[in-house]
Amino acid sequence: MKHSIEELRREIDTFTIRTADELEAFRLRFMVRKGSVAKLFNQLKDLSPADRPGYGQLLNQLKQSADRKYEDAEKQLEVLSSSAGKKRIDLTLPGRKQYPGSEHPVQKVLGDMKQIFRAMGFTIATGPELELDSYNFDMLNFPANHPARDMQDTFFITRNEGEDDQLLRTHTSPVQIRVMLDEKPPIRVICPGKVYRNEAISARSYCVFHQLEGLYIDKSVSFADLKATIYSFAKQMFGSDVQLRFRPSFFPFTEPSAEVDVTCYLCGGKGCRVCKQSGWLEILGCGMVHPNVLKNCSIDPDEFSGFAFGMGVDRTALLRYKIDDIRLLFENDVRMLEQFSQ
Ligand code: DAH
Repeated sequence: MKHSIEELRREIDTFTIRTADELEAFRLRFMVRKGSVAKLFNQLKDLSPADRPGYGQLLNQLKQSADRKYEDAEKQLEVLSSSAGKKRIDLTLPGRKQYPGSEHPVQKVLGDMKQIFRAMGFTIATGPELELDSYNFDMLNFPANHPARDMQDTFFITRNEGEDDQLLRTHTSPVQIRVMLDEKPPIRVICPGKVYRNEAISARSYCVFHQLEGLYIDKSVSFADLKATIYSFAKQMFGSDVQLRFRPSFFPFTEPSAEVDVTCYLCGGKGCRVCKQSGWLEILGCGMVHPNVLKNCSIDPDEFSGFAFGMGVDRTALLRYKIDDIRLLFENDVRMLEQFSQ
């Protein structure tokens, strides 16, 4: 009996099942009522009562392993046949067109700006678009009720007496504050992002737009460093033959302050419709960080100095890609966007 069981186990183990026919052959040989396992069960009654339970148990195990092998093989054959079914390809079907996304023109311009500043050692910092009044104005040295606040028509979100108002940031300059509160000098960051102003909407201005802010704080940073940085940036961004013009200006958070123009890169400075015949395009505001701003962020203005700048991104995208209405940048119309796919 023992010998027959071992023999049968070997047969079951070595039986290969690769096809549905082989599966059926396995079933007929080992699993049906007249199969070889059942035959051995029938022989149990000829054994002595003492031997019966031991061999009975061995036979049960044998039956279970035959069942398991059958089920496993059956499952595997099912998987194979269903994936074979899936692989059947109808070569006469027309191809399915792929629609890859495209990089938004604003992101293309921002990408170039970031790369230029990254190469100069600036890292990227971001801040929230829902900002506190204190970061957007107070800490940037805007006095309370100062008309400078009206320069930027603000979308207020919450206004509660005695509390810090929440607003949609009107510029990326509050990220300067967040970085200076978080980090110790030397600091060299750019802060790209969306800003919001409650302005009349037209082909030239929209309630949302993009800015890129820059901040550099260290020991003895000078206006010459600011000029060199802006020169280097502008030549890489707008062409090596552009000229720059620094005009004195005012911002509460910088002193002295300047606005920077480049020679119009559309007409080469001769004068055209875009530069309103002036030959110049304004690209950014900048200046030396006001000592009050440094103090507000617990940075000692006697030890450290720095410069900051802020530039618009959207206008460069409009000029570069000859888009004549800023609203197109925000409407997300695929007919516009897909013109920028590679
Ligand atoms: N925040 C200013 C604006 O939105 C732009 C600006 C000007 C940023 C001068 C600066 C700066 O960092 O130094 O009009």
